[in-house]
Amino acid sequence: MKLSLSLCVTAVSLFVSQGMADEVNPAYLAQFKPLPKVMESSTNKLTEDKIDLGRKLFFETRLSKNHDVSCNSCHGLDKFGVDGDQFSTGHKKQKGGRNAPTVYNAALHIAQFWDGRAADVEEQAQGPVLNPIEMAMPNEEHVLKVLNSIPGYVELFEKVYGKDGLTYKNMGNAIGAFERKLVTPSRFDKYLEGDKSALTKEEKLGFKKFVEIGCSTCHNGAAVGGSMYQKLGLVKPWPNLTDEGRSAVTKNAVEKFFFKVPSLRNIDKTGPYLHDGSIVKLDEMVEKMAEYQLGQNLSKEDTKSIVTFLKSLTGDLPTDYIKEPKLPASGPNTPKADPN
Ligand code: HEC
Ligand code: HEC
Repeated sequence: MKLSLSLCVTAVSLFVSQGMADEVNPAYLAQFKPLPKVMESSTNKLTEDKIDLGRKLFFETRLSKNHDVSCNSCHGLDKFGVDGDQFSTGHKKQKGGRNAPTVYNAALHIAQFWDGRAADVEEQAQGPVLNPIEMAMPNEEHVLKVLNSIPGYVELFEKVYGKDGLTYKNMGNAIGAFERKLVTPSRFDKYLEGDKSALTKEEKLGFKKFVEIGCSTCHNGAAVGGSMYQKLGLVKPWPNLTDEGRSAVTKNAVEKFFFKVPSLRNIDKTGPYLHDGSIVKLDEMVEKMAEYQLGQNLSKEDTKSIVTFLKSLTGDLPTDYIKEPKLPASGPNTPKADPN
């Protein structure tokens, strides 16, 4: 009798302590926000027609010199917005020097690119089309010539932007509009909204660890990142770093080796990691972050626990929204593919 009573007490206290262990301090939760349904912009009003145009342009290979590269080539929407390669392959199989970040949830970031050199997704979308190693179009005039030669686009641009609305800037505007709904809510959002059972006990413990060790001083907000620039190798110099990151844009030496803190949404699906795609495995990435950004050596268990939490940030892809649209047919004067 006595024995069974004490066993019973132990069981209860065990239960209570486990209950406590995965109870999360509200101050931890306050550092994050659920993803919005739409990443609104005060300067780009979203309409159905504009989004449909933007979706077509996102999949449009005729915006590349050899009609073989689109935004979707490097930011596969069915692959969590990335290509999975260290460096992407563009025109004539050329490769750049930076890893392609995901387009999902990107409109939430303070700015675009690893070094923040484009203010928003609308401005960013104007870059790759003219980039000689990406889509390699020779100039804006040529892009407009292509779009003007495709009757379906002439009609769509006029419908969305009015007469004379087929401009290079509006091309970026429409693509940006489409990107503003590329949002991937996950169980973590349900958890933040108050559903305490949305995360498992292990994920909650990993979340606690993530906050307590200091990851959320940099990776926070709705995107769990994307809200600031920070130095790679903040407390311990990152070995063999050559890309100077943000300082090349701002010409401010203090920002040497600073990069935009990436969003950790869908992080389990968007490797390889860092601006140079040099880290392949998520657990290694977490260990290195603790070491170089926080000066801490994580135990194997703690690393595993944080990775368990990070996996809960894998969201649902908007499968209907990202279906490849039917693209308008070329006209008689549409320039031919140019492999050179
Ligand atoms: C050949 C591959 C390639 C193509 C094609 C391409 N991108 Fe990218 N994209 C990249 C790479 C690489 C980066 C990072 C470059 C950097 O930061 O300097 C990037 C960055 C971005 C970002 C910034 C995300 C962030 O978190 O900062 C967005 C948004 C984006 N691309 C959208 C697009 C759109 C829209 C198109 C089509 C108009 C496009 N990309 C075409 C490879 C590509
Ligand atoms: C001082 C700020 C800071 C802290 C603290 C920090 N990070 Fe980072 N994190 C960054 C920056 C900056 C990058 C991007 C660096 C680059 O690409 O060169 C990054 C990159 C990452 C990446 C790769 C993302 C991608 O898309 O390539 C992961 C994963 C990551 N951090 C997880 C963590 C974890 C887990 C912790 C806590 C152990 C942590 N970070 C702590 C600033 C920080």
